[in-house]
Amino acid sequence: MTPSVPSPASTSAAPAAPALAVRDLAVHAGPVEIAAHVNLTLYPGRMLALVGESGCGKSLTAAALGDLLPPGLTATAAQPSTLRAGPRGLAYVFQDPGVHLNPVLTVGTQLAEALAAAAVPRRQHRDRLLDLLARVGLPDPPRVAASYPHQLSGGMQQRVMIAMALALSPRALVADEPTTALDVTVQAKILQLLRHLQLVENLAVLLITHNLGVVAQVADDMAVMYAGRIVEQGPVPDVLRHPAHPYVRALLRALPTLHGADTAAPLHEIPGRVPPPGARPPGCPFAPRCVAAQPDCSLAELSLRPLSPLSPDRSTACLHPLA
Ligand SMILES: Nc1ncnc2c1ncn2[C@@H]1O[C@H](COP(=O)(O)OP(=O)(O)OP(=O)(O)O)[C@@H](O)[C@H]1O
Ligand SMILES: [Mg+2]
Repeated sequence: MTPSVPSPASTSAAPAAPALAVRDLAVHAGPVEIAAHVNLTLYPGRMLALVGESGCGKSLTAAALGDLLPPGLTATAAQPSTLRAGPRGLAYVFQDPGVHLNPVLTVGTQLAEALAAAAVPRRQHRDRLLDLLARVGLPDPPRVAASYPHQLSGGMQQRVMIAMALALSPRALVADEPTTALDVTVQAKILQLLRHLQLVENLAVLLITHNLGVVAQVADDMAVMYAGRIVEQGPVPDVLRHPAHPYVRALLRALPTLHGADTAAPLHEIPGRVPPPGARPPGCPFAPRCVAAQPDCSLAELSLRPLSPLSPDRSTACLHPLA
């Protein structure tokens, strides 16, 4: 059972020492820029959601944080990230647990391998893996440890993946669309588990998702990515209530709501598509799709800057932010 968890902290001050901070991160495929000028800071006990349409560069940015880019891609940063993937660094949980679990090994064997990778002495493996399975809310840990992945539901498999990530005793966890392959009730339980681990184990969590409803429920802070740039950042309630960048407002308007179903209100689709890497338009990359665009938007790109001196944790990359 996953214990109940408090709702997200609102605008409470972030703790001083980040678990991970990266400045001016860029990802390239040869000469083609996929993402650039990315600043991300993860704090212990807080969850940062990274959101944006498909193809914006969320997954590759997250992979770059832990030096896990696929071959052919390179990352540069103004200063090295403070974490590396692996023990006591950064651990990852991905979308489809079935793909990442070995079908011919029991859960216990796979967890023991993760513990060995984290240099845990072999004699401690059994106790530690049973403890990990309990910490991720799996009932009857000895039975789960003796099971093969196909004997577990999708939700149980994702809990096992999270246990494998925790085996590394990470300071930060990247969860890339961790619930997209699961049905909605299981999705809620997995999100609740991530939230619980973040709070109780003081983990820094980077949650990558398309789903702004999920962000509203579980994350403390959010960064919105568009065409390889972060275009808006801030505490979740502030950004969702008062988006400054027209892209963020358009994403919010595209959200289906139960209210919309009652009134048959149309969904506001965002016209056009995210430009592929290598085909970024000049100036603001969202300008060609932006209903509020003005002639100067296409002249020069604006970097992320604070909305006002009074709210340094709220920033946007729009020349004409919404009031
Ligand atoms: N190995 C690769 N080599 C070159 N380009 C790639 C590679 N992998 C992905 N890309 C391109 O980089 C861009 C960003 O991809 P990424 O997977 O980070 O997007 P994403 O925001 O995570 O999208 P989604 O929401 O669909 O997961 C996309 O245009 C994608 O086509
Ligand atoms: Mg992705």
